[in-house]
Amino acid sequence: MHEGERLLAIGVDVGGTGIKAAIVDVKTGEMAGERIRVLTPVPSKPAVVVASAGRVVARLVRAANSAAVAAGLPTPVIQAIGVGFPSPVINGVTKTAANVDPEWVGFDAQAAFSRSFKRRTWVVNDADAAGVAEMRFGAGHGKRGVVIVLTLGTGVGSGIFIDGRLVPNTELGHMEVGGKDAERRSSANARVRRGQSWKAWAEDLDDHLRAIDVLFSPSLIILGGGVSKKADRFLPFLKAQGPIVAAQLRNDAGIVGAGMVGLEREIEMVREEQDVAEQKAAAVAAALAAAALATTASGAG
Ligand code: BGC
Repeated sequence: MHEGERLLAIGVDVGGTGIKAAIVDVKTGEMAGERIRVLTPVPSKPAVVVASAGRVVARLVRAANSAAVAAGLPTPVIQAIGVGFPSPVINGVTKTAANVDPEWVGFDAQAAFSRSFKRRTWVVNDADAAGVAEMRFGAGHGKRGVVIVLTLGTGVGSGIFIDGRLVPNTELGHMEVGGKDAERRSSANARVRRGQSWKAWAEDLDDHLRAIDVLFSPSLIILGGGVSKKADRFLPFLKAQGPIVAAQLRNDAGIVGAGMVGLEREIEMVREEQDVAEQKAAAVAAALAAAALATTASGAG
């Protein structure tokens, strides 16, 4: 890769409501081309969601290729694909299904998306992905200490960073606050579902933020998700301790972060594969040398 060359990855953000995706320039955090959004199928069973995401990715690649051809440029090389999903994800397996069909519990999402996209794909928690993007390119840039990124959408997701390093798969949306699962009151959906004013919702969100503050004493809380573009409607009502700011990448953080994490994991995997190939080559060379030695020895004898 040459200096200044773009490093492209596809980022897919699967949510309880929509599936969003774009080709991401991982060096700048910007989208290289159009952003596609389709509604998450209902019911959101794995097979249909994976197939729908597959169509979105195919559309993205086709659009990018034809734009390049029209501009007389070489077709873009996509280095990796990452998917953000609303569940803790361990080794590619989705563990819970708070806002998607229960069939996702214990489902090998990574294998299924890889088959659908016809290339190796990496799946991570959606809020972790959004947090990674926000820490690199947004409100968390250069911030040390304990930084918590919360995504307020269909549910509430969390990404906790310690001196910039992610603690993966935290689920602060499901803390018990006021005797209830916190996201039932503090998600963006909760406001709409309960027909609340911004102020009334902000008070509920504030309870959640205070509980987080008691447990983690974060140096910064960043509020992301679709509502972050309307931060002026609710931030002034928040009284919880510590600096609380709106995410800068807004709702695109999930897409950008999925692309970033996808590329990171892909690079790690390629390195591991190279190490294994080198070890194998070394073992073969050693075996050949030993065999040659044995032949010489028996010839000499
Ligand atoms: C899920 C999280 C997810 C969040 C935001 C929660 O209900 O449990 O894993 O990050 O929603 O989508």
